[in-house]
Amino acid sequence: MLHLEPSPVWIVFRGWTYATGAWEAGFLMILSEGGGPGDGLAGNSFHRESNLPCTVHWLEENADATMSDLFSKAQAAVEAIRERTQIAPRVGIILGSGLGGFASQVEGAVTIAYAEITHFPQSTVVGHSGKLVLGTIGGVAVAVMQGRVHAYEGYAMEQVTFPTRVLGLLGVRTLIVTNAAGGIRADLAQGSLVAISDHINLTGMNPALGPNEPRFACAEGAGERFFDMTAAYSPRLRRLAHAEAERQGIALSEGVYVAVLGPSYETPAEIHAFRTMGADLVGMSTVHEVIVARHMGIEVLGISLVTNAAAGGHSHGSDPVEPIRHEEVMETGRRVERQFTGLLTALVTQIEAAD
Ligand code: HPA
Repeated sequence: MLHLEPSPVWIVFRGWTYATGAWEAGFLMILSEGGGPGDGLAGNSFHRESNLPCTVHWLEENADATMSDLFSKAQAAVEAIRERTQIAPRVGIILGSGLGGFASQVEGAVTIAYAEITHFPQSTVVGHSGKLVLGTIGGVAVAVMQGRVHAYEGYAMEQVTFPTRVLGLLGVRTLIVTNAAGGIRADLAQGSLVAISDHINLTGMNPALGPNEPRFACAEGAGERFFDMTAAYSPRLRRLAHAEAERQGIALSEGVYVAVLGPSYETPAEIHAFRTMGADLVGMSTVHEVIVARHMGIEVLGISLVTNAAAGGHSHGSDPVEPIRHEEVMETGRRVERQFTGLLTALVTQIEAAD
């Protein structure tokens, strides 16, 4: 499986997590001289506290323990949910900043606070209430996440993507991920709804890092060590979304989402660089959940709500006059709530019908 390279410096971390210290069982790593920032792991929470140039190697025997540990934790969370309801959701929906109101669409709702679900991480951000709502929409069993946690809150990748793992084990086969985003492309004005066509992960983090756990597979051929991301945002679901938006008279654009770590918003120079790179939207979430969902074989639809012009709408070099405010993000969410809810509600029923 994994091989250790001989190294003059061996440092072992056991079970450290950046935010909560709650997941202490697990990671045993050895850092060796020779790598460093830029070796593909820069920014990873495992060695963020260390100033040593390092490359990360997984110790074989503990590697397996680590992933099965994550799997058992996800199973424990599933059990905690099943103690509250027998609903087996087929469609999962993660609601981004300002979009939590959609959860009121769920019929026969069973609402469980994240704090009541074993191992579930708690959001610390205003606008992410931290509730899992299970029930039906138009007869389709759904699990709606009202709020998510982000890497910028200090959460490790395993925690950021833990709810997605749990949704998959609960039976979710389609995941709708939503987020608030800054508009980079000129035509993506505040209030625009955008179907994500692809993403660029600039967070420097990948939740699939570490030993592979094939038991997370929810579909034939999923759960592999290396997995495809060429059609991460399902073309079939995007077509459905565009057709439904047209039917409802809602303008729905398409765009490439670039994910940054945050929590600072971007500088005009960064936005200039992202635009040149081919990005249309920028945000601080989503991509890690999508990577994990694809690892599990879950089909994904991504919808962004443009809450502000990226970097306040300033082209590179101009004077910033309009700073971005988090309240603006929330206000925009409320403004488009009706359209967003109408579109998503109709889509949930169609996704299952067309499955
Ligand atoms: N940048 C990053 N994330 C965001 C933004 C932004 O401009 N707006 C909402 N989320």
